[in-house]
Amino acid sequence: MFSKAVISLALAASALANVFITSPVASTTWTAGQQATVTWQDDGMTPNLTSFGASLVGIYTGNANQQTLLQIISSSVDVSTTSSVAFTPDGTIGPNSNEYFVRFTSINLKDATNSQFPAEAFSAKFSLSTICVTG
Ligand SMILES: *[C@@H]1O[C@H](CO)[C@@H](O)[C@H](O)[C@H]1NC(C)=O
Repeated sequence: MFSKAVISLALAASALANVFITSPVASTTWTAGQQATVTWQDDGMTPNLTSFGASLVGIYTGNANQQTLLQIISSSVDVSTTSSVAFTPDGTIGPNSNEYFVRFTSINLKDATNSQFPAEAFSAKFSLSTICVTG
């Protein structure tokens, strides 16, 4: 059984690193089918955005130990030369929920404390409004 303390520590460690995501934030609500923009900046800590480099950006759900990729926003964006990506959230990825988050996964850089994992950065959990059309 996982302890909540362990999960919180892992999230805090991730939050300390690298890409500071300025959209979405906890108050963000995106609507499926309408254009949304992910934005970020360097947080001034190591590694910097140059080191983080090309990244996979996606919408995920889950927790610190297990995350499920629901939608790819960009399969390779260089976070040091680009600071935003516009995309359209897909309404079929899941229900209306405030449990979604954006994750950046560096393609080349490894996690500073555990080199078998890639370096990652996480947004706050945000809300996605998906419209469920039933026949
Ligand atoms: C980013 O970090 C790398 C490695 O520490 C360093 O070589 C590089 O000069 C830094 N780039 C910037 C723009 O600060």
